[in-house]
Amino acid sequence: MEPEILLETRQAVKAFGALRAVDGLNLQVAAGEMVGLVGPDGAGKTTAIRLLCGALSPTSGQIRVAGYEIPRMVEKAREHIGYLSQRFSLYGDLTVKENLNFFGEVFGMPDAERKARSEELLRFAGLSKFADRRANALSGGMQKKLGLATALVHSPKVLLLDEPTGGVDPVARQEFWHLLVGLLRGGSAVLVSTPYMDEAMRFNRVIFMNKGRALIEGSPRELIQRLKDRILELAAEPQMEARRLAVLDPDVEDVHAFGDRLHLRVREPSGPIARLPGVLAAGGVRLLHMLPVSPTLEDVFIQLLEMDQDAS
Ligand SMILES: Nc1ncnc2c1ncn2[C@@H]1O[C@H](COP(=O)(O)OP(=O)(O)O)[C@@H](O)[C@H]1O
Ligand SMILES: [Mg+2]
Repeated sequence: MEPEILLETRQAVKAFGALRAVDGLNLQVAAGEMVGLVGPDGAGKTTAIRLLCGALSPTSGQIRVAGYEIPRMVEKAREHIGYLSQRFSLYGDLTVKENLNFFGEVFGMPDAERKARSEELLRFAGLSKFADRRANALSGGMQKKLGLATALVHSPKVLLLDEPTGGVDPVARQEFWHLLVGLLRGGSAVLVSTPYMDEAMRFNRVIFMNKGRALIEGSPRELIQRLKDRILELAAEPQMEARRLAVLDPDVEDVHAFGDRLHLRVREPSGPIARLPGVLAAGGVRLLHMLPVSPTLEDVFIQLLEMDQDAS
């Protein structure tokens, strides 16, 4: 049996005046899937998520969540939705436990069930020790975990997380993802937005969004195949000069810096590999290494964004 589709949009449009923040978006997320909505600021990620949780009505198109049409059946759908908004707020003066309790009350959970569920989530989130600490005395990373826990109190089938790791350090981000994956063994459908390209590898499937539209969709592995044999990594000093010279090569389409390395996107690798060492040496650049590497999702997204830019 195919897993049930719990999140679906068909040709969804949300216009704010002349701006189409979401512009004909088609997406599906099945039970047990964690799908990433990845894209730069302003791509329309938040708007898409707010359409799915019924906070906004679509200008046109169809939306279904947990089998309910939105906005018509939004109240029914909400019973199954856990939503963490981009700027979610905890009640800073309430303790960790009181926050969970509050969100449980919002969903009308009976006392005993709410208590049991809160304790379970505190354990999962590694927050049991901090149950009586006030929320605004938690670290940023712990606040994110508590936020996630509050979105899960009513055991939703569908989870919508809008930039859940925004503004926290890499270690806390890592912990958050571990926690989420652990919590997902239950087969919910999860849609997570993130502007961090390096987080995209974590998803079963990635939808890359720009200007309200999905530019591409697939598993990280499938997406990376697009640029197989098209990336050369180069380390050289000074990097700026290496970059300037590399761009001039006829088979180099684009150069991006990844920390102390350059990624050259090439039409094919053999020409640049043959030519560049001489060109760089003549320009006074010290070549440390140059070799073909597997593309990253970031390489793929950069290429897609450039193509999208050229198309408009
Ligand atoms: N309530 C609103 N009124 C007008 N424009 C909006 C509103 N919400 C979002 N936008 C615009 O829609 C576009 C997409 O925004 P958003 O969905 O927040 O993108 P993202 O979450 O990917 O950064 C942006 O250009 C933003 O300025
Ligand atoms: Mg956003």
